[in-house]
Amino acid sequence: MGMMEVATAMVLAVGVTAAAVLVVRHRMRNSGKWGKAMGIVREFKDKCGTPIAKLRQVADAMTVEMHAGLASEGGSKLKMLISHVDNLPTGNETGIFYALDLGGTNFRVLRVKLGGVENIKKEFQEVSIPSNLMTGTCEDLFDFVAGELAKFVATEGEDMQIPAGTQRELGFTFSFPVKQSSIAGGTLVKWTKGFDVKDVVGQDVAEELTKAMERVGLGMRVSALVNDTVGTLAEGRYSDPNVIAALILGTGSNAAYVERANAIPKWQGLPPKSGEMVINMEWGNFRSSHLPLTDYDEILDSETLNAGEQRYEKMISGMYLGEIVRLVLLKMAEEAEFFGDTVPSKLEKPFILSTPDMSAMHHDSTPDLKVVATKLKDILEISNTSLKMRKVIVELCEIVATRGARLAAAGILAILKKTGRDTVKKGQENQKSVIAIDGGLFEHYTKFRNTMLDTINELLGKEVSRNIIIKPSNDGSGIGAALLAASYSQYHEYI
Ligand code: GLC
Repeated sequence: MGMMEVATAMVLAVGVTAAAVLVVRHRMRNSGKWGKAMGIVREFKDKCGTPIAKLRQVADAMTVEMHAGLASEGGSKLKMLISHVDNLPTGNETGIFYALDLGGTNFRVLRVKLGGVENIKKEFQEVSIPSNLMTGTCEDLFDFVAGELAKFVATEGEDMQIPAGTQRELGFTFSFPVKQSSIAGGTLVKWTKGFDVKDVVGQDVAEELTKAMERVGLGMRVSALVNDTVGTLAEGRYSDPNVIAALILGTGSNAAYVERANAIPKWQGLPPKSGEMVINMEWGNFRSSHLPLTDYDEILDSETLNAGEQRYEKMISGMYLGEIVRLVLLKMAEEAEFFGDTVPSKLEKPFILSTPDMSAMHHDSTPDLKVVATKLKDILEISNTSLKMRKVIVELCEIVATRGARLAAAGILAILKKTGRDTVKKGQENQKSVIAIDGGLFEHYTKFRNTMLDTINELLGKEVSRNIIIKPSNDGSGIGAALLAASYSQYHEYI
């Protein structure tokens, strides 16, 4: 080797060594970051833990709050609102009734012809609410709704005409906390689920709707004002007398159940106290030190229009699950450069990751997690993720959905405990308890649903589980309101 060649070889050798050192350093740095990111996931997972013993504590705490909420007005975070529904549909209702189902970004108007359990004819239309109306004025919201209802009424066919000389009757499903003054009237306690329409809290919502209907020239009587949980319960009861409770697991979450009227100390309405009464729990506002809350839940809460409220709802319902995943990913991006040395700007946008998108990622069954890659690219503009990273994202979805589903199961246990149906009683070995469940989260997020169902069985054990039936109820809340309009019709005696 000549001098020149030796020198070249040395330079090359030095170069190769330097490159190798760089690669190792890069890897070490990256593995340090990876370790940090995994640390964030691990810590989050630990804090979200819902072992059975904890779920039992949650259920017990909720049962205690149920008692307190029934005992006195304001006695608990659980409002335990008296629905004034003490007369659930029997299946014998007949006639033509309207319903309006308002409580999310879409509302539905329905027309139903009742002629027995096997014979319901239903026509409906779905309308989306312009987002500015969700935080606008009372008049604008109700005028819009009444206007759409009037358009729908105008499409009434020959076979859907009410008897001459009678007035159209409406069941109004209003899926927010309402303190009822009667079956057909009540005041809004507060807004939830991202609504903040001015001048409605404290007002009678049935009256507001009636005024708006008058403004658009629509003569219709609100015969029942109900929560969506109550509507779902009524719809379930129509075809099955064993239905004792109903849940909504959708944008928000809530439950209603049938209580003995004499177990409601604050109920002064039925002398002598007797019979049954449907209670709208407003369980979304449940709170307990046993709830496995994390820092991310605190951040999420602070981002909402109703900070400090609906804390249980914010852990279990569709409006929020995707957002929790986003907040954890953001932390991983900021503190562990999970997506590279800059934080993807879309990831900083609150509520950009919806629960349906989270669900799609969670259910991704392609070997290379293509759906996750596509969602990241389309929603967050993040590309070039490794399979390893995508697996971590699926794991985050799993953690968040599992916690929510298991906590919802604990809520069901609380209702069963309160109604004495969490054990098998002597002489009632075959007594069935049916719980009707509606809402997009329950309907579409299969892993959430399955985890919830498994957890109910785990909590109750084989023997009790046999008698507890979970009945999916699609769009029961609207039909249920129409059924209640029938039960409480002004023409009741003629039907
Ligand atoms: C929110 C509302 C409640 C409703 C539930 C489901 O929790 O406060 O009234 O039933 O969402 O729509």
